[in-house]
Amino acid sequence: CGIIGYCGHRPAVPVIVEGLKRLEYRGYDSAGVAFLQGKDLITVRAEGKLVNLETKLAAQNVYLATSGVGHTRWATHGLPIEKNAHPHCDASRSIALVHNGIIENYQDLKKELAAAGVRFASETDTEVLAQLVGHYYKEKGSLAEAISKALSRVEGAYAIVVVSRDNPGMLYAARKQSPLVMGVGVGENFLASDIPAFLPYTREVVFLDDGEMARIDAGSWQVLDVATLAPVKKEVQHISWDVSAAQKGGFKHFMLKEIFEQPRVIADCLAGRVQRGSERVALPELEAMDAPERLFIVACGTSYHAGLWGMYLMEQWAGIPTRVEIASELRYREPVLGPGDTVLAISQSGETADTLAGMHLAKARGARVIGLCNVVGSSVAREADVVVHTQAGPEISVASTKAMCSQLTLLTLMAMVFGQKKGVLPADVAAHCVPALEGLPALLDGILPALRERAKELCRVYSEARSFLFLGRGLCYPLALEGALKLKEISYIHAEGYAAGEMKHGPIALIDPKFPTFALAPHDGLYPKVKSNLQEVQARGGKIIALTQPGADLDVDHPWEIPAAWGPLSTFLMLPALQLFAYEMADYLGKDVDQPRNLAKSVTVE
Ligand code: G6P
Repeated sequence: CGIIGYCGHRPAVPVIVEGLKRLEYRGYDSAGVAFLQGKDLITVRAEGKLVNLETKLAAQNVYLATSGVGHTRWATHGLPIEKNAHPHCDASRSIALVHNGIIENYQDLKKELAAAGVRFASETDTEVLAQLVGHYYKEKGSLAEAISKALSRVEGAYAIVVVSRDNPGMLYAARKQSPLVMGVGVGENFLASDIPAFLPYTREVVFLDDGEMARIDAGSWQVLDVATLAPVKKEVQHISWDVSAAQKGGFKHFMLKEIFEQPRVIADCLAGRVQRGSERVALPELEAMDAPERLFIVACGTSYHAGLWGMYLMEQWAGIPTRVEIASELRYREPVLGPGDTVLAISQSGETADTLAGMHLAKARGARVIGLCNVVGSSVAREADVVVHTQAGPEISVASTKAMCSQLTLLTLMAMVFGQKKGVLPADVAAHCVPALEGLPALLDGILPALRERAKELCRVYSEARSFLFLGRGLCYPLALEGALKLKEISYIHAEGYAAGEMKHGPIALIDPKFPTFALAPHDGLYPKVKSNLQEVQARGGKIIALTQPGADLDVDHPWEIPAAWGPLSTFLMLPALQLFAYEMADYLGKDVDQPRNLAKSVTVE
């Protein structure tokens, strides 16, 4: 999760540990450093907080090394325990490597290396990469060539930094789809996943691009093409941000940063689960189980909204009778739930007390529990019979954004997997869903800036509203609930999400020119129905913002057009629009976006 590498004139280990501290805000569950002591490559790693690593380091003489690497790990695969912490070494301890990202084909590579006699010390994809680099290093004798060769074999995303026994005072690094930046100092150079790691020492940076390799020592740096090792010309840029702005990647708030991370999150959630050129989806976690006969989805807050959305796909694509339960309600009911039933507990943190209680109730009654959660090693992950991890990365803003995006991606994949298992997956879904999912990150990436601009315009028009109604049907109903929740949470404007067709049974009484409606009206099969609901609003003088798509012919005050996307995947374009509307409104009104009053990120009490 956090990487820092240093080559210079100072004792490296303290510089590295301080750098890791400045990356602490990202969250992590273990940490480690690697450096040279004489001819030995030393790695020191510890579970938990950085103080544990510092305690271990205090027992060593760490002041001689003037180069080294450090890492804080936020588990995505193996548990957050010491042997899985970075740096990882090759078998002969000639190199040590730290890595952010996901190596998709690590299992294949691991088999290949194991067949060549390599023994593994951890469960991580990173160790496979370290062993692979070590393997080619033995063969080639040049570290740059070994890294280049190893990376040519790797599918997936990575930012890596490599330290080696034979090249003291020098570090190599490379990146693909995972951030990596070089800090250029005087008599010292840095490599890091994030600028704040080295900001006290230098403001001169070189941003590395995908497919580039960097080599630094105390007095020089060079960027190479990772495939050809030809030099690449790079520009040094000056950073004027302070540490807190740098932690947010230059964004004003974590929430905004996390909204903009969603294209990457979708790609990470698909990594290793869909194969290019194949329409099938593989979730190895679910391989051994049959599709559920009946499914209970249990969750709270935003995760509950994701679950509600998932219900539509579980029914349509996999023919599974599905109920979605607010965890705090389920736990005190006498639900008809028992052996043969499956419960899917959805939780970003994996620590929400009510969701855990719902899981315990299900287990006590003999039901099977699948956990869908973002934090490896959390209570939900540990206590579920089977766990599927979302790959959203640490979410810092209290209001959840990218975590929901990751949950929706995984629910889409799960519904496909269950449909495949039962042989009922509709043919058009089988044919179109995977390619459409693969195109989603680029599509979303392309429209996010425009979505933000439109959100900015609209929140200025509606900033005096005291109340909002969010309306949607079908898959847009859970989105309406989520849009309302986001607005409430961070801008403190009252908002209610409603099924559009249900509006005439009550909320319509509230409609007047000062009570605006935010409608979700994509151009799908339900569009004519939503359109007539909106006419009911307009007939009462209500103002309307409508998220819509090309081909729709809505005549509303503020249409907000998003591009067409295949089937249910329009959701992934509408969700950020809702998030950005709430975000821009809260920011415009001067609210504390990342830490809204009265709310907690993880609610571990009833
Ligand atoms: C809290 C957070 C929400 C979150 C909910 C469920 O209320 O503020 O953003 O959706 O808990 O959290 P979980 O970690 O279980 O998804």
